[in-house]
Amino acid sequence: MASPTPRPKVTVPSLAAQQREAQPIAMITAYDATFARIVDAAGVDVILVGDSVGMMVQGTTTTLPVELDDMAYHVRAVASARPRALIVGDLPFGSYQISPEQAVASSVRLIKEGAEAVKLEGGLAMADTIAAIARVDIPVMGHIGLTPQSYHRMGGHKVQGRSSGDNAGSRERLLDDAHAVEQAGAFAVVVEGVPRDVAAEITMKLSIPTIGIGAGPDCDGQVLVVHDVLGLSGMSLKFTKRFADLGDLAVEATGEYVREVRERRWPDDEHSFH
Ligand code: KIV
Repeated sequence: MASPTPRPKVTVPSLAAQQREAQPIAMITAYDATFARIVDAAGVDVILVGDSVGMMVQGTTTTLPVELDDMAYHVRAVASARPRALIVGDLPFGSYQISPEQAVASSVRLIKEGAEAVKLEGGLAMADTIAAIARVDIPVMGHIGLTPQSYHRMGGHKVQGRSSGDNAGSRERLLDDAHAVEQAGAFAVVVEGVPRDVAAEITMKLSIPTIGIGAGPDCDGQVLVVHDVLGLSGMSLKFTKRFADLGDLAVEATGEYVREVRERRWPDDEHSFH
């Protein structure tokens, strides 16, 4: 049987074409080479090396403690898998908020480690920063709505866009944030934790792809955290879905290993050198 034609590399322009052709964009997180190979083989379009690595790998309760050095390490690990999917490296809290110059330097670092684009959180307030990164030809993905790095301002991981007004997190402000991110030169924007109708309106009004998480089905694409998808995070949030229970399987398999060791059944003769 002829081997299937290898799928072409996903690029920033090819994602724009995908949106024009109304083909939904599938994005998922990965933090190392093993998971990058798995999700790439599954056919995702974009791998996000997200700062959710804090919660999923480092055991933190928010993304705030994650450092640029951590992100550089995980971007390098994912890039070593040479995925077909576009690799987006997340700029962690404190690595871009101080000045546009700091943001450009942090972005350059992630690109040198193998990222093909970077992502940062914030709308209007980050417009100059997005523009500065885009000006040096580094593709930037925006992230508005429930921005986990704004944990303390939001009072937790709270759905945004339910109130009216011009305060951060209000419906009108979200629309302004979305326009600001697009005008600043972002090539796509993550819309997280907002009512479905707000995400639909943003998607209708923007020309760049919107990638939703907890934002309903009307965005141009969707993103989830791989540990949630595979049942490895122990979390079942309203906006995530466990597509498999690998956590249970892993406990079962490891338990069997422990039993075989205790009962001196592992290793057997077949797995021993002679
Ligand atoms: O870090 C992350 O995983 C993210 C996604 C949830 C969008 O930013």
